[in-house]
Amino acid sequence: MGKVYVFDHPLIQHKLTYIRDSKTGTKEFRELVDEVASLMAFEITRDLPLTEVDVETPVTTAKSKVLSGKKLGIIPILRAGLGMVDGILKLIPAAKVGHVGLYRDPETLQPVEYYVKLPSDIEERELIVVDPMLATGGSAVEAINSLKKRGAKNIKFMCLIAAPEGVDVVKEAHPDVDIYIAALDEKLNDHGYIVPGLGDAGDRLYGTK
Ligand code: URA
Repeated sequence: MGKVYVFDHPLIQHKLTYIRDSKTGTKEFRELVDEVASLMAFEITRDLPLTEVDVETPVTTAKSKVLSGKKLGIIPILRAGLGMVDGILKLIPAAKVGHVGLYRDPETLQPVEYYVKLPSDIEERELIVVDPMLATGGSAVEAINSLKKRGAKNIKFMCLIAAPEGVDVVKEAHPDVDIYIAALDEKLNDHGYIVPGLGDAGDRLYGTK
């Protein structure tokens, strides 16, 4: 079964409070999401493999470590996932970025894929699927299905806020996928919003309604 990691670092919790605050405007909201995404990227890359090299310091030759070149991919779920990409790229600038777009079928209420563009070698990459909100879990499950259908083997899911219902749905559908979150909230309301949550992440990022 996939593991769930809650990154409750004080800086993340502090920034998340202002992200939640309905008085926080678009510009500040976007900046805070970007900052939290960077902090989460720092945590999520903790287990990246290293390799030993020789380095000439001004004093002597030393053994030291560099990243062993594991290929990473960031996959935002459109549109709100885009708000987390730049923050992650600040720490992992060489990562490739793929996109998955989903809409909700008005009759079945199920997410349907409308756009997928991925790095050509996704089967060799460690992929981090990003979406600020893990609510019902429907979009996350479908996005991960899209990636697996195209050969992805190593997938992590990262979001700011998750509802317990969404976490359970993703764990059930994709037991091989670990989930990384900044806060695990109380529940979903009747409209599918996370409580207490932050409202609609896409609208708050882009100033739409
Ligand atoms: N998507 C959002 O943007 N917010 C929620 O609370 C749930 C889903």
